[in-house]
Amino acid sequence: MTPVTEQTLALKLTDRINRIEPSATLAVVNEAERLRQQGIDVVDFGAGEPHFATPQHIKEAAIAAIQGNFTKYTAVGGTAELRDAIVHRHAVDFDSDYRREEATACVGGKHAIFNAIQVLVDRGDEVILPVPYWVSFKDIVRYAGGECVLLESDESQGFRVTARMIDRLITSRTRLIILNSPCNPSGAVMAPNDMTEVVRFAHERGIWVMSDECYVYLNYTDKRFSVGSLRDLRERMIIVGSLSKTYAMTGWRLGYALAPAPVTTAMQKLQSQSTSNPTSIVQKAAVAALKGPQQCVADMRAEYIRLRDHVINGLRSIPNVKCTLPQGAFYAYPNVSAFLGRGGINSASDLAGRLLREAHVATVPGEGFGTRDHIRVSYATSTPELDRGLERLRRFLASL
Ligand SMILES: Cc1ncc(COP(=O)(O)O)c(C=O)c1O
Repeated sequence: MTPVTEQTLALKLTDRINRIEPSATLAVVNEAERLRQQGIDVVDFGAGEPHFATPQHIKEAAIAAIQGNFTKYTAVGGTAELRDAIVHRHAVDFDSDYRREEATACVGGKHAIFNAIQVLVDRGDEVILPVPYWVSFKDIVRYAGGECVLLESDESQGFRVTARMIDRLITSRTRLIILNSPCNPSGAVMAPNDMTEVVRFAHERGIWVMSDECYVYLNYTDKRFSVGSLRDLRERMIIVGSLSKTYAMTGWRLGYALAPAPVTTAMQKLQSQSTSNPTSIVQKAAVAALKGPQQCVADMRAEYIRLRDHVINGLRSIPNVKCTLPQGAFYAYPNVSAFLGRGGINSASDLAGRLLREAHVATVPGEGFGTRDHIRVSYATSTPELDRGLERLRRFLASL
């Protein structure tokens, strides 16, 4: 009998599963975990998640949901209570006017993105994706049969994206433009007027815009902005949000989409044939998060700003490391091109790999985000941990 190897198995799997790669970020998390299990003390700058615990009042709502036996199936796209809470929070914070029928709760923001792309992108459609991009966009588009058209942005301009830059990439096959502000991995924040211009431009041409606003509450400029405030331009707009980063709830898996009702209905149809509703207990916790006190969000944001300033000062003090100032999210995206070609290191992946194995600092190489000269450093950790990691990074780079 022929032994089952990964190769023979791959031949038997579908074309669409063979088109995509596992998430680069999760690969680092796994490798760091493997080292930790060997007893190695790894400083983790790899994970894309808050280091804070979920706020107490949110946890208590989940416990109450269990005790109250709120443990059955719910409507596929979430309870009316939750969808109203999503719409309410967005209206209060961003001056949007969505209706319950336009909101869907999903199993994390990633799930909302997956479903939205599955219902909008067909084989051969083009999707404009600014670089650097969050790892999963590209593979989710490919899974749907679409093709990503990459929009290179200029690091010296803070990775700025404008409508004019997008204009050059439009073809008759352009179906969707993806925006992600604040951006994972660069921390870049699009100016509200740039976002408005892109949305207006897409609206005029009948092209969809998906605005991934999972970090919208972690915007460190004084201009927090959601495209949802552009009420008259939302005919072809999908907003993706998530409780993961805003309320330190990554493991709970609750995200949402705000979109025109026909798209919402189609997303729920797909969801009805896959996950069904997000966990009922988590939905109760989400209502508590969205309708309860918001001070926790402001407190975490203030702490991220402090950590950002600390890590950026540290990175910029390392000879030959350059780093733009992230305006949001919790990642620094230092340019390490000065070290490529030294000590047998020829790519950001080589560098991140050696950094993890030799200096025991986990970072994510830029290739997964579409750039070759960077590594992503997550600063969602404590100051002492940041200092330990920065010192190891400094020593490692000096040794090259
Ligand atoms: C840009 C971006 N979008 C979406 C997500 C998905 O987050 P979740 O599925 O936890 O809501 C992430 C998570 O890292 C992200 O960085």
